Amino acid sequence: MNIAIIGSGYVGLVTGVCLAHIGHHVICIDNDPEKIKKLNAGKVPIYEPGLEDLIRKYRRMKRLVFSGSIAGAVKKSEVIFIAVGTPSKQNGDADLTYIENVAREIARHMDSYKLLVEKSTVPAQTGNRIERTVRLNLPAKYRKDGARPFAFDVASNPEFLREGSAIEDFMNPDRIVIGVESSRAEKLLREVYKPLKARVVVTNLASAEMIKHASNSFLAAKISFINAVAQVCDRVGADVEKVAEGMGYDKRIGRAFLNAGIGYGGSCFPKDVDAFIRLAEKSGYDFRLLKSVRDVNEQQKAAFIQLIEDKLWIIKDKTIAVWGLAFKANTDDMRRAASLDIIRSLRAEGARVQAYDPKAMVNARYELKDIKFCADAYAALKGADCLLVLTEWDEFLKVDLARARGLMRQAVVFDGRNFCDREAFTAGGFEYYGIGRGETVKTTTGAAACGKK
Ligand code: UDX
Repeated sequence: MNIAIIGSGYVGLVTGVCLAHIGHHVICIDNDPEKIKKLNAGKVPIYEPGLEDLIRKYRRMKRLVFSGSIAGAVKKSEVIFIAVGTPSKQNGDADLTYIENVAREIARHMDSYKLLVEKSTVPAQTGNRIERTVRLNLPAKYRKDGARPFAFDVASNPEFLREGSAIEDFMNPDRIVIGVESSRAEKLLREVYKPLKARVVVTNLASAEMIKHASNSFLAAKISFINAVAQVCDRVGADVEKVAEGMGYDKRIGRAFLNAGIGYGGSCFPKDVDAFIRLAEKSGYDFRLLKSVRDVNEQQKAAFIQLIEDKLWIIKDKTIAVWGLAFKANTDDMRRAASLDIIRSLRAEGARVQAYDPKAMVNARYELKDIKFCADAYAALKGADCLLVLTEWDEFLKVDLARARGLMRQAVVFDGRNFCDREAFTAGGFEYYGIGRGETVKTTTGAAACGKK
């Protein structure tokens, strides 16, 4: 099939290249000429495992083309995915300016049936607004009292791609959600995804939009739930890692997304939770549960800083080593990374910060102007009074702990992801503090030492 993707950001690029991989001819559009120039020169603006190789392959096979022209893409393609950004406004609403602009622009070049598919995460009922915008902006020759001169459809097909494993997620989805208002749209979207042989859930437009809201918010809720449990674990001498394991074997609960830590970040969860709260508010429902999910997430960073202050005593003029800056491992993405708030707060108290991240330092430099960026994990430790582990990169597990300890002034580690081998650090002479691992209380039962990673 001939498919256009409008917006060559994270979601657009991954979707475009994966659709080419399953056999379609794809045109990826972006309004940033620099980005298109780079992509056409084989340079990929984001780090995502496997993406660059696939882009190179399908460009060579001419199944994937990058262009700045919406006009040309609309003419050539029957199915048009909209994957432009939907940033948060100050009040938490999703800013849909780019969606509206693109809908208008697509409409102006339409001359036959097209299926417009929302891929970006948008508030419920955006599909109806796109339909109306297209209808009102068709070329003048077709405009007759707002009536449709030819058929077109709007559908919702939310993405569930995780950064760092987005290609794998696209190729092996748990489900494909298709929100449609006509059988023609359903048939076309089924055709698009036929090679994947995945479970397809067909709904109306609004339900598909809601599935995306509800899925991301539910996952965020799982994280905040376990983080709240971790706070109590610390106070009663329990180990949240064991608690999560014990809960996770219950099939109704599952172990995934029960990793306690410094809270969720990234381009999706914080923004999507805000947008869902606002959508509910506007529709007349006070989504208090979700507001608490957001609050717990913020508290988690504050609690981590408090723990550091408690154990380090004076923060001013201390040297703090940081391993990991990205909002999670296997990405260079710094958007809403918990590391930013934590580092800024420690800097405000007068600490010196020296950090290392395997992929995210280029992006981090835009955000953090007054910290030292180090060449590797060891360099970050030189003369440090403590180490903070803020992203769970595998390479940190391979560090020689004796060498690490020798480089530091004080061997104290705060593991913000419960990722390091606590026993190995403790045996190596480190004072180890995780999240919700019962270290903040002294018990006679030895609970602090239970449970091995
Ligand atoms: C998420 C959704 O998973 C994906 O379906 C959606 O389409 C986009 O948003 P992503 O933002 O790439 O994907 O990251 P994800 O792996 O879901 O993690 C989000 C955040 O939650 C990260 O900061 C991560 O560190 C944190 N997290 C995740 C936890 O703190 N604990 C967990 O148990 C899981």
